[in-house]
Amino acid sequence: MDDSTLPGGMDLDADTFRIEAHRMVDWIADYLAGGARRYPVLSKVRPGAISDALPLGPPEAPEPPDAIWRDFERVVLPGVTHWNHPGFMGYFGITGSGPGILGELLSAGLNVNGMLWRTCPAATELELHVLGWLRSMLGLPQEFFGFLTDTASISSMLAVMAAREAAGLEIRERGMAGRPDLPPLAVYASDQAHSSIAKACIAAGIGLEGFRAVPHDPEYRMDVEALARAVSEDRAAGRRPLAVIATVGTTSTTSVDPVPAIAELCEREGLWLHVDAAYAGSAAVCPEFRWCLEGCERASSFVFNPHKWLFTPIDCSAVYTRRPELFRQAFSLVPDYLTTPQTGKVVDLMDYGVQLGRRFRALKLWWVIRSFGAEGLRERIRAHVRMAREFAAWVEAHPRLELAAPVPFSVVNFRPRFPGVTDPAEADRLTMALLERINAGGRVFLSHTRLDVGTVIHLAVGNLRTTEEDMEACRAAIEEAL
Ligand SMILES: Cc1ncc(COP(=O)(O)O)c(C=O)c1O
Repeated sequence: MDDSTLPGGMDLDADTFRIEAHRMVDWIADYLAGGARRYPVLSKVRPGAISDALPLGPPEAPEPPDAIWRDFERVVLPGVTHWNHPGFMGYFGITGSGPGILGELLSAGLNVNGMLWRTCPAATELELHVLGWLRSMLGLPQEFFGFLTDTASISSMLAVMAAREAAGLEIRERGMAGRPDLPPLAVYASDQAHSSIAKACIAAGIGLEGFRAVPHDPEYRMDVEALARAVSEDRAAGRRPLAVIATVGTTSTTSVDPVPAIAELCEREGLWLHVDAAYAGSAAVCPEFRWCLEGCERASSFVFNPHKWLFTPIDCSAVYTRRPELFRQAFSLVPDYLTTPQTGKVVDLMDYGVQLGRRFRALKLWWVIRSFGAEGLRERIRAHVRMAREFAAWVEAHPRLELAAPVPFSVVNFRPRFPGVTDPAEADRLTMALLERINAGGRVFLSHTRLDVGTVIHLAVGNLRTTEEDMEACRAAIEEAL
């Protein structure tokens, strides 16, 4: 029987679904095959424009697919910033690849909730298994237990909360408020760490005062001597250090903190070491970039985002930990209605974090890894690094531009030279004005960040469809803007 003909079956009937799905897949295929280039990378709409173009209230009656499509093209598309455009090189350029999109589609079609093993055994087992594949692709230790979350922000928050649990302060049971026995807590990361670490401290009740930003060295890596000093000064002042977050591939410059030395300090001081490799972790699939994970085998937890540089559509963040029992201790809470005959004998992924409901994220990751193969992923990462390095060489040779930081992976920071400009604020203003002109052309989108020298332009190669011609177009856009 066709379920769509059941009484009360108000979903699309199977034939209409088939037609509409084909239409949508055709649209996506054209978009990926070059159609995205028809649009400016950065949306040009004014704030409020999309909302103004939408009806105030929802439709009472069903609307036909054509009407929805028309408004998608007329109202929604102009407000899209095209992250899947080959000219998107701001922040961390990413790719929702074909295989990943197919995995997403299938996951929506199944619409399982993998909260418990039995609510979808395949979701749990594929997730654990694919995370095992990734672990060996990155050369992480066998004993690391891995699972997926939506974002690195959430992954790091869970890690900070597991570290808090590891400290044995009974916070799970007794909370933090009104406890004279509880010292102020401290978590350390470099001042180049992503803002999600400070947010994790907010969420975990450690507070921004408990987030200790450690200074960086001239290459934007954490200064480990300053870290050691901060830990001992905090102890002397009655604070309780909990964890250090090392970054492998910082957001601004992709610098790599000295993890072996940080691990040594953590072991000496009894601190949890969490490594945030959200972007650069993907590079470790290539043996020649594996150096960036040196020391990570000593971490208590580690995160990297396949949705950043492993061609998996957002969202997909991989957490690894050698202490899964601490995550369970922090988060597992099983009400009667969620017990099953298998409770305690299988992995129920709801036990490892705050969320109950779970998407079938592993499906897209599995599809990506199988479709590209490990070697295919390596080749594409190498191509991105090569294009970024060629771009950096062009900047270095350019009479009116200068490199602002080393280029270990596929991110280049640069800015114009300012002969005769002595006011740093004026240099920042001129840099931002140049960036606005580059982006206004619509062929590329670059972002900015702030480094020791001041404001700089930030270029990241991470899109599968970015070619040498796109890099050439980017250089042309910069020349024109100059
Ligand atoms: C080093 C680092 N960590 C964490 C994040 C946050 O990632 P997400 O958006 O997955 O929370 C970013 C984002 O760019 C990042 O660069």
